Amino acid sequence: MAKKVFIKSYGCQMNVYDSARMADVLGADGYSRTEDAEDADLIILNTCHIREKAAEKVYSELGRLRDLKERGARIAVAGCVAQAEGEEMIRRSPQVDLVVGPQSYHRLPEMLSSLTNGDPDAAVETEFPVESKFAELPPVQANGPSAFLTIQEGCDKFCAFCVVPYTRGAEYSRPADAIVAEAERLAQGGVREITLLGQNVNAYHGCDGGLAVLLRRLSDVDGVERLRYTTSHPHDMDDDLIAAHGEIPALMPYLHLPVQSGSDRILARMNRRHRAEDYIRVVERLREARPDLALSSDFIVGHPGETEADFLETLALVETVGYAQAYSFKYSPRPGTPAADADDQVPEDEKSVRLQRLQALLNSQQLAYNQGSVGALVDVLFDRNGKYDHQIAGRSPHMQAVFVDCGDAGEATALYGRTLPVRISGAFGNSLGGHVERISAGTAGTASIGELQGA
Ligand code: 5AD
Ligand code: SF4
Repeated sequence: MAKKVFIKSYGCQMNVYDSARMADVLGADGYSRTEDAEDADLIILNTCHIREKAAEKVYSELGRLRDLKERGARIAVAGCVAQAEGEEMIRRSPQVDLVVGPQSYHRLPEMLSSLTNGDPDAAVETEFPVESKFAELPPVQANGPSAFLTIQEGCDKFCAFCVVPYTRGAEYSRPADAIVAEAERLAQGGVREITLLGQNVNAYHGCDGGLAVLLRRLSDVDGVERLRYTTSHPHDMDDDLIAAHGEIPALMPYLHLPVQSGSDRILARMNRRHRAEDYIRVVERLREARPDLALSSDFIVGHPGETEADFLETLALVETVGYAQAYSFKYSPRPGTPAADADDQVPEDEKSVRLQRLQALLNSQQLAYNQGSVGALVDVLFDRNGKYDHQIAGRSPHMQAVFVDCGDAGEATALYGRTLPVRISGAFGNSLGGHVERISAGTAGTASIGELQGA
């Protein structure tokens, strides 16, 4: 009987990509992916180490898996917590069978068979160089109209608060030819939108000319309608990449460009290598290239040394830029990073209050941005099921989630994988609702694509 693997991803989109690639590796070894942990022979938690709570969540999840372990499932921990904790994971959670780092998961089949053969050394793999993983992975399997494609890993920036340079290691860029081949295979499998991933994706240097040149090559791949990339560092937004936003039609008008803080003093403490005004200038130049560009950012409140005045500068930067969406976090000290040792930590309750104030502003900007779409005709790539079986959902070019209610489940299914114009009739904090304006020939069930009832 076919074996089943359940994979749960925590944290960033790179983990979502890695989880899909683990499924590819295990697929070649006879495993099919299941969405039900109860049903699985192998459970993989693909973990994140970026903030404290994420690691703690893994340990509590492992506690909850004890029953399934007793019923015979094997348990593997992958990702950045696995990399950072190594052997310690097995000591702290004896139900863990395998610990596999982000550069070692191509070895899962061998690790599993060593385990079956009773090899006591099989349990921990965290040592491989990133090149060997990409060289040894089986061909990618397309799964749906939108896909992630990791093009670089690791980071050399050493922001004072961040563990990534320690857990994911030095910056590595995959060769452009391998990336183009992977994109072609995805497109042949029905993928229409590719999001290029990297911890520092715009530092990509796997071909002459970097990310801008790679984007131009990928925009020529047959079937690829939409390109996006994330996460970028403001310091690496070079002239050609900025120009690419105005020149490549497939490059979607949305950019996640984290600034973290609006205070020059805190940006220096964070080792971000730019001032608030440099960031604002990059944003202006991007908007000159692509006037309708929607922006997103990450923010950290309560970094060591942050005063009320520094925080007000963050709020002022948010007012100046105007975000379509954003992610904001309380500073969380990560052992081994310079900021964790600073003696001017901000009290927890102060961080909480600042986070609430910042999120109130960001949420109001996001709602206003979405309300600006009401009445507009927006191209939506339908790439996921809605909340009900007669509903379908997708993304606008500006990355807004758009829900469309159909007459029945059959109509909803007929829209899956297509890009169609949607007349937006409702805006919410995190989504839009509307109806398909015109349905081109060949789509089943054009009768009653209704208005959104509430997303
Ligand atoms: N504390 C809080 N947020 C952090 N991030 C990274 N490290 C920390 C930390 N120690 C946030 C940054 C980054 C995002 C992925 O996570 O905003 O851009
Ligand atoms: Fe971390 Fe800074 Fe590198 Fe981003 S750029 S991964 S925040 S060190």
